[in-house]
Amino acid sequence: MLRQKLAQLRQRLLAAIGLGILATAIILVADYLFNDDPAVRIPADRPATRLLAIPPLLEPTDEDGVARYHLDLHAASHNFLPDRATPTFAYNQTSILGPTLRLRQGDRIAIDVTNHLDEDTTTHWHGADLPAAADGGAHSLIHPGQTWTAEFDVIQEAATLWYHPHVKYHTAEQVYRGAAGLMIIDDDNPSARSLPSTYGVDDIPLILQDKDFTKTSELDFTLTNYGKGYYYPTLTANGTIDPYLSVPAGLVRLRLLNGSQARLYHFSLDAGKTMTKIASEGGYLNRPLELERLTLSPGDRAEIVVDLSDVDRLVLLDDSFGRVLELRADPTLVAVTTPLPDRLNDIERIDPSEVDRSREFVFDSVGKGWGINGKQMEMARIDDTIRFGDTERWTLQSVSGWHVFHVHQTQFQVLSRNGQPPEPADRGWEDTIFFKNRDKIEILARFDTYANPEIPYMLHCHILDHEDTGMMSQFEIVKDL
Ligand code: C2O
Ligand code: CU
Ligand code: CU
Repeated sequence: MLRQKLAQLRQRLLAAIGLGILATAIILVADYLFNDDPAVRIPADRPATRLLAIPPLLEPTDEDGVARYHLDLHAASHNFLPDRATPTFAYNQTSILGPTLRLRQGDRIAIDVTNHLDEDTTTHWHGADLPAAADGGAHSLIHPGQTWTAEFDVIQEAATLWYHPHVKYHTAEQVYRGAAGLMIIDDDNPSARSLPSTYGVDDIPLILQDKDFTKTSELDFTLTNYGKGYYYPTLTANGTIDPYLSVPAGLVRLRLLNGSQARLYHFSLDAGKTMTKIASEGGYLNRPLELERLTLSPGDRAEIVVDLSDVDRLVLLDDSFGRVLELRADPTLVAVTTPLPDRLNDIERIDPSEVDRSREFVFDSVGKGWGINGKQMEMARIDDTIRFGDTERWTLQSVSGWHVFHVHQTQFQVLSRNGQPPEPADRGWEDTIFFKNRDKIEILARFDTYANPEIPYMLHCHILDHEDTGMMSQFEIVKDL
């Protein structure tokens, strides 16, 4: 109530004073005072209480060389707390989230998605390079009771991707209620062979979402049209609150996904230990990168390796929540102890001299919500038309607020951030990138895999409050311009 009143008050102030420096200052102060992070810290001085849930692997059936998967999105019920059933959304037999799809580069895939909810949904394969008709964007509605099929070839390298609904105005809520899952792509990269890769044993998926609960244990959803989006107080990892997991006493890979509506995570390890980042969103980095801290913005993934060979336990921490996951070394499990390879990938840098065309995307508040280049998302409007085969340079800029740029279909490279070349951690393939007020980012992308003059792809802010209040636009890739 208080928060809503303050939000209204702030909006009225805005209207009265206009978009001046004064109003901006008031918003900043109000945000700081009243919309601060409500995160409930998990006390680290007692052991974690619940076993981490691992999303099951979804097995395909083989149909004439096509690997066929089935997903059923339905209303479910999940016990976040013992004896308290919370209504959720889930795919297949899970009580929240969905099974992990494991695809191989070179495979032909068909995924049938049936919608058992009583509202429209779509299923978007975030990070996947596939035809527009299979992308599952806002145009590919699956009405209640209907089944939609995405059919495509897996043409990209090994990576950790994810799937989630993409319905205009309702993405945030469906994802928040639990409609999300991982999609892992494997390939024959020989340097990756020695990495920990036993799913659920030393290769652990970790879908992080923050939640809030009503007194009757329902999920309490809020969508804002101002500020940095809505932060909830309770952290869940794969739907588990305060999790632990027993793992081998060696190297352990974590596939981290920020599946939250708006919140950023700032990860570190306890006892001053370092982690090693091995993959960004679109695949392996060229070399393993030792890090003390790792930030993930909404939609972002990273694969890290942590080492439990000389400790009994290791705690993954977040600045706001404290403990994220307690890993307990179990010496009876078979451990990977081979050192990480020096080289993991051979990413060819896109050369700026290849650029055929440049575009600018300005992120700002528009009307009662957010927009790109002064416009809010319109289903009937194609904002950009790209020539098939082109390499493009896009400049991303925020006039107000923090944003997470995300583009469908392609993986891009960062050319510069505020005039500086990218940090080593930003030198991999990416499909989202975080930037702050007044930041200016240049990215390079190739659009040479699929064209379709009828169905557009989306680009948008992955802070879902922003996406659902207009910060999204559409582009198509065409062969004849
Ligand atoms: Cu993860 Cu357009 O979305
Ligand atoms: Cu996407
Ligand atoms: Cu945004």
